[in-house]
Amino acid sequence: MNAESRTRLNQTPEWKALGTHREQLGDVQLRELFDADPARATGYTLQVGDLHIDYSKQLVTDETLRLLRALASATGVVELRDAMFRGEKINTTEDRAVLHTALRAPRDAVIEVDGENVVPEVHAVLDKMSSFSDRVRSGEWTGHTGKRIKNVVNIGIGGSDLGPAMAYEALRSFTDRGLTVRFVSNVDGADLHEAVRDLDAAETLFIIASKTFTTIETITNATSARDWLLTELKADQSAVAKHFVALSTNAEKVSDFGIDTANMFEFWDWVGGRYSFDSAIGLSLMIAIGPDRFREMLDGFHLVDEHFRTAPAESNVPVLLGLLGIWYDNFHDAQSHAVLPYSHYLSKFTAYLQQLDMESNGKSVDRAGKPVDWQTGPVVWGTPGTNGQHAYYQLIHQGTKLIPADFIGFANPSADLLPGLVPQHDLLMANFFAQTQALAFGKSPDEVRAEGVSEELVPHKTFRGNHPTTTILAGELTPSVLGQLIAVYEHKVFVQGAVWNIDSFDQWGVELGKVLAKRVEPALSEGEQVPGLDGSTKALVAKYRELRGR
Ligand code: F6P
Repeated sequence: MNAESRTRLNQTPEWKALGTHREQLGDVQLRELFDADPARATGYTLQVGDLHIDYSKQLVTDETLRLLRALASATGVVELRDAMFRGEKINTTEDRAVLHTALRAPRDAVIEVDGENVVPEVHAVLDKMSSFSDRVRSGEWTGHTGKRIKNVVNIGIGGSDLGPAMAYEALRSFTDRGLTVRFVSNVDGADLHEAVRDLDAAETLFIIASKTFTTIETITNATSARDWLLTELKADQSAVAKHFVALSTNAEKVSDFGIDTANMFEFWDWVGGRYSFDSAIGLSLMIAIGPDRFREMLDGFHLVDEHFRTAPAESNVPVLLGLLGIWYDNFHDAQSHAVLPYSHYLSKFTAYLQQLDMESNGKSVDRAGKPVDWQTGPVVWGTPGTNGQHAYYQLIHQGTKLIPADFIGFANPSADLLPGLVPQHDLLMANFFAQTQALAFGKSPDEVRAEGVSEELVPHKTFRGNHPTTTILAGELTPSVLGQLIAVYEHKVFVQGAVWNIDSFDQWGVELGKVLAKRVEPALSEGEQVPGLDGSTKALVAKYRELRGR
């Protein structure tokens, strides 16, 4: 559907119908909805692959869901989805195709960009990554002095860091425990310092991950890492080849940096940074878990891609989750969305989703460049389950804000957990189930009184309830399940961007800060009189210089 000719979202009959429906529902209670429909608990569920999705505790009725699907249909979600899968340049502001789905397509698939099938290249890179990973894991690939590689340090930022760092954490129980794998992203020298201070340079492989190979944080850290390595090894430039590899789309810049392009693992401009960890950007993860596990993860992604591409809206999980988000964002004025994994291994999952969702849908003009007058992407936040319960859950339960939340949990602990720790899993999951129960159904004043609580404490001990949650439950956190989960969120973000009529695949909002940092940097050494600083920044720079004794 042409972005220019689309009716303004909030002028469509489908949008207006949802507004009216929202008014009619008023403050309908989940208790009422469950009482009215005894089958709700099982009826409001979906399954994709290993993921069981329970949305019965959402503030929706069959009519809400019907109206939301009508909105998706009127806004051309399916047409845009098909255009994405076909390799059309739906990232219009960058004139690029959006084909992360090709990264996990089977070898015999045909997906064309500008008339060329990209699948053979994808598999050629995967094969090259596999053979390199095997050589590192087996000890065949050695460092400059002939020592076996025992440490892998990925240097990258944003999509070139968050994905592999999150997935490495998530799949730790599948990793080669003999390898130390670390991730450096921050230009604060402390990050690299802490990553390398206890490592033997002769046993360390640096993976420089940068789509553009121009990102200042990454190139600065990579240069410092190279200096550290050469100093530690007392070696010349020739040592770089055995200790540095690059993941990038930019062969020229990789070569300028001094990395042999034979040791470069390529990807393409049709892979967005935040959609890239299943490309060459996942090399650190592949070394950690091995090529077979990595491919299982890709199969998990692909399973959900196929579901998203083919399942009808009624049973399409990303469509459902995307529309539920729109229901709260646009019709309940919710500002944020919490993602709360009940798995320690998913400790970086929400940070990863922050980039995926907020860099994609944090936009305020539509695809035609006109300001939107509807809310777009929510603030995404959260940390692993029980830790949050003892910190910010108070606000979710009894605060004044509506915070829709996804609860993600697993029936089984990781297979290699110390046997003595296995019984703790039931306690973890008891909390998982108890929280969504408490959030949905709360505790009424009468229930509080019935416990003999004094009247003045009743309001304090009452739980309003009616806080919407989705429960995502799977058997175990495996590579395939991780791929499935991520693909669900990728496509959820897609659905929302399509409805909001925004370009979910550009990120112009990060540019201004980069330009200004370049302008401010000389002022820190030369003084605040350098051109282009506003009054406040000048004063802050002057204070900084004073504190640094300049
Ligand atoms: O500044 C934002 C961004 O462009 C992200 O979209 C991207 O993932 C990150 O920087 C890193 O970029 P690169 O991989 O090119 O170093």
